[in-house]
Amino acid sequence: MTSDTSTAIIDLDIPGATISRHVYGHFAEHLGRCIYDGFWVGPDSDVPNEGGIRRDVVDALRAIRIPNLRWPGGCFADDYHWRDGIGPRDQRARMVNSHWGDVVEDNSFGTHEFMALCELLDAAPYVSGNVGSGSVQEMSEWIEYLTRGDDSPMAALRRANGREEPWRVPFWGIGNEAWGCGGNLRAEQFASLARQYSTYVRAHGDNEVYRIAAGANSDDYSWTETLMRSFDDLSRADATAAPFQALSMHYYTMTGPWSDKGNATQFSRDEWYTALVRAHHMEELLTRHSTVMDRYDPYKKVGLAVDEWGTWWNVEPGTNPGFLYQQNSLRDALVASMHFDTFHRHSDRVVMANIAQTVNVLQAMLLTEPEGGALVLTPTYHVFEMNTGHHDAAALDVHLQGVPTLQVDGRELPLVSASASTKGDSALVSLTNLDAEQGRTVVLDLRGRNVVGRSARVLTAGALEAHNTVGEPQAVAPVVHDGIRQHEAGLEVDLPAHSYVTVSLDLA
Ligand code: AHR
Repeated sequence: MTSDTSTAIIDLDIPGATISRHVYGHFAEHLGRCIYDGFWVGPDSDVPNEGGIRRDVVDALRAIRIPNLRWPGGCFADDYHWRDGIGPRDQRARMVNSHWGDVVEDNSFGTHEFMALCELLDAAPYVSGNVGSGSVQEMSEWIEYLTRGDDSPMAALRRANGREEPWRVPFWGIGNEAWGCGGNLRAEQFASLARQYSTYVRAHGDNEVYRIAAGANSDDYSWTETLMRSFDDLSRADATAAPFQALSMHYYTMTGPWSDKGNATQFSRDEWYTALVRAHHMEELLTRHSTVMDRYDPYKKVGLAVDEWGTWWNVEPGTNPGFLYQQNSLRDALVASMHFDTFHRHSDRVVMANIAQTVNVLQAMLLTEPEGGALVLTPTYHVFEMNTGHHDAAALDVHLQGVPTLQVDGRELPLVSASASTKGDSALVSLTNLDAEQGRTVVLDLRGRNVVGRSARVLTAGALEAHNTVGEPQAVAPVVHDGIRQHEAGLEVDLPAHSYVTVSLDLA
């Protein structure tokens, strides 16, 4: 074994917690060109659409089996009043989107349009309710409008607006970033409000609703502690998490301070590693938030939803600074693959994660040319596609040995990230080589079951900053990987420098 070789020991017969498909969730805010020009072009557009929703965007997201979509924000959610977004589109109230570009929002994309989008995507709606500037009554009536079947006042209003049957809304957000744009609240104050608002987000008919209270900013463990303290006793196995069922946590990856977050496609070797070590920080964040939660909730009744994560770079030159439009390179793809490894390892607590954001904003899956132009799949999109085999599979522990580390910004960065899962007679192993220059071989020491078939795919490019454009849409795209061989311990896999590799196994 050379020093360019590491080992990953995997017990294929010891399945762990289920990796919820909802950690592959998405987020679409009324921000820049995410909703308008991203998802929504309007029914009269020349761009192929279904009732105003871009067909190519829907097809691309169905291909990665998008499990849920969070909407309408983000910060926008705490300014949003849902009644402005129902009824005839040309008569809807207008408002100022003060967080994002100070532009006028005409509310042409509202509740019915969002639910139609989720139906086209076959994705579970995750509605983020307004605590910051809304009211308990407003939130209570919104879920009644959406999910009630009889002739209640809100159900009747929905029917008058053209929708007979109630929808199902399985996920509901109680506020967003309540410590910041969602009201600048103190943790104790928000904990009380979260209990109150959650009480009125009722389960109408058979619509079971999972309520997610606005959680911590990155390493604010005391916010998590305060929310956990607000639950009634969870120390018994038969206790129920109520009135809300999960907390969120937000963490963004950038290489500099908020005033200069780094460039999406022009970065130094040092900035490559800075981004990756900051992505690796998610491991510590989840470990420490989980430790706090374990103290109050040993049976893990309360979920943790990382409902905003991803890279946040300086906007592309010449674009509106309030629109958060950024390119997406191979580096973003590896940030994503590392995050998923971390989510898989924490699948006993992490019930959901939502990358920010799906189209044209921050670490997007899809970039569209302005005014309904061409669609580009980003390198991050391909990681989501390569990982669909992990959805609802059982996590497998991966014991890595012989992985070199780098000291970056005072933190230790292992140069290989890995995770694995199994479902029935198959398994999927994810391997990321973070080394900017050196390839590496990983021996997969596969124990407990026989491997009867295998295949591998790789996502990489010649340059670290490689990215996809309309002119070069396949600059970073997965291909079949033939760097995989039989080994006495199992298999041997070559990881090119700066690459993401998935290995699919057939098991007997
Ligand atoms: O995703 C962009 C913004 O980041 C969201 O609106 C907010 O919740 C967070 O600060």
